[in-house]
Amino acid sequence: MALLRAGEVVALPTETVYGLAADVYNANAVAKVFETKERPHFDPLIVHLPSREMLDFVARTDSRLARELMDKFWPGPLTIVLPRREAIPDIVTAGLETVAVRMSAHPVFREIISVFGGPLAAPSANRFGRISPTSAQHVKDELAGRIPLIVDDGATTHGIESTIVRVMNDTIEILRQGPIAAKALRQLGRVRVNAPDGSVIAPGQMATHYAPRTKLILVEKLEDFLSPPSKRIGALAFASASTSFAALRQLSRRGDVREAAANLFRMLRELDNENLDFIVAERVPNEDVGIAINERLKRGATPDARAPLE
Ligand code: TXA
Ligand code: MG
Repeated sequence: MALLRAGEVVALPTETVYGLAADVYNANAVAKVFETKERPHFDPLIVHLPSREMLDFVARTDSRLARELMDKFWPGPLTIVLPRREAIPDIVTAGLETVAVRMSAHPVFREIISVFGGPLAAPSANRFGRISPTSAQHVKDELAGRIPLIVDDGATTHGIESTIVRVMNDTIEILRQGPIAAKALRQLGRVRVNAPDGSVIAPGQMATHYAPRTKLILVEKLEDFLSPPSKRIGALAFASASTSFAALRQLSRRGDVREAAANLFRMLRELDNENLDFIVAERVPNEDVGIAINERLKRGATPDARAPLE
């Protein structure tokens, strides 16, 4: 707490992934977040609120649909992009006229932010372009020596970053797929995925954003993959358990996409540390949070990667 008040950055657990938090209103503290992550300044941060009452200080909420989304999904893994208030330093929003806002449901995060008493800017606590951390150990592996404190509350529940939406002409637009799937959002209104022209509107959503260091190949089904015998290959399976790989991780033995999401980044990291020639990942069922998993696998895959035939 004292650290946050003094303008330091602190790693905190949320229900999605660990975040790197700083006082929104302290531009120097926010600058440290960018430095620590080596994140480019054009990529804006999410503002986390201690309470719904604080929303008015950071954003305008003229949209009834946006307020209904908050009623239904806050606190929880939903981030909403709204017109910003002037008081937010430009460094937080990367100069955009909008601000991304969320309210975490994580008990430890909630306790800390409510004692802090103001909004916290918090991106995922990884170095830029790398896999988001789902445990305190991951944060340590990424950022040890760069931050004064990591608050450890074990593995995160959802394991992937929050769903990001904005409301445009009474339509809910999904800017980043996440734990709250289109199906759930559709209960409140029309849903559209991404910008109609396919352009990047959540600036951090670049290709190769979720990339492990090891080359990653995405396949439909692991059993159709012929593994070249001379290579050390790791497999990230959904539920299947093939033994023909040097290393194998199963996202969910019982075939549950929620469990798969919670395991995704940890298992990718584990495989990444196995000194493999490459990792083959199998698409998961494209339903519910499985859509968000497939999206991340696609972005994590090495561009144009093809399995070497020998
Ligand atoms: O689950 C999460 O959302 C985690 C935890 C820590 O809360 N945070 C997180 O933050 O994933 P970060 O910074 O890694 O990802 C935030 C994404 C980036 O892709 C950024 O470009 C986008 O949100 N974003 C932020 N402000 C935006 C805005 N005004 N308009 C569109 N996209 C925005
Ligand atoms: Mg991130």
